[in-house]
Amino acid sequence: MLTLTLIGIGTGNPDHLTLQAIKALNAADLILIPRKQGKEDLADLRRTICAEVISNPATAIAEFDLPTRDLATPDYRQRVDDWHDAIAAVWTQAIAAHQGPTTKVALLVWGDPSLYDSTLRIAARLSPAPHIEVIPGITSIQALTAAHALTLNEIGAPFTITTGRRLRDEGFPQGVDTCVVMLDGECAFQSLAPEGIQIWWGAYVGMAEQITLTGPLAEITPQILQTRAEARARHGWIMDIYLLRRG
Ligand SMILES: C[S@@+](CC[C@H](N)C(=O)[O-])C[C@H]1O[C@@H](n2cnc3c(N)ncnc32)[C@H](O)[C@@H]1O
Repeated sequence: MLTLTLIGIGTGNPDHLTLQAIKALNAADLILIPRKQGKEDLADLRRTICAEVISNPATAIAEFDLPTRDLATPDYRQRVDDWHDAIAAVWTQAIAAHQGPTTKVALLVWGDPSLYDSTLRIAARLSPAPHIEVIPGITSIQALTAAHALTLNEIGAPFTITTGRRLRDEGFPQGVDTCVVMLDGECAFQSLAPEGIQIWWGAYVGMAEQITLTGPLAEITPQILQTRAEARARHGWIMDIYLLRRG
């Protein structure tokens, strides 16, 4: 039976790898690395990680091109479902094409597989169903709070993790004073009434390129917008995350 190990690798810093992750990489017969147009840096990082920590000569690496989403399908959920099917099919082909034993296949998952990541959902589409193993990784939330030396929650208080789209459409989440916003390509914090809100923002958190900014939202918004646009132009891509706290 095939074991598929989803290895959380942290957020772009090879030092985020846990000893458990390094052991799992060395135990794999085959590691699959996705290539995505415009994000070649991220495939490079996965290659670097493998080159640095794999000492088992029997571990093979196969790269595959990540299928692109078919934007013609009008329904969002259908579009995502079709895309996940296509990725599962590409994994199946890459595993079948491998010459040699493939009882243990591993995938390097950005951050942790449990947080805004579909690798587990895609793995559930494989047939026959493999045994799934997850190695936890440092999430971008942890990398952000560490970068700012910040606690995620206030004493005994809950918090919400949400997306840029929801923040823009629904405003500051109800029932909490702290929220973490991910997957925000459009700086949705601009849509909030900024009075009384503090922001802790970070791009490329944990990586050598890390940038952090913090301050009252009303004052620091223009600086974040400018810094983000410049960094994105410089690198060709950006990943950013922020924590908002009110009161
Ligand atoms: C598809 S989600 C993957 C999250 C990942 N599984 C995790 O555990 O952090 C991608 C989002 O995570 C956040 N992110 C991931 N890595 C980041 C980094 N190094 N710096 C800032 N944000 C990051 C961004 O909000 C980005 O839009």
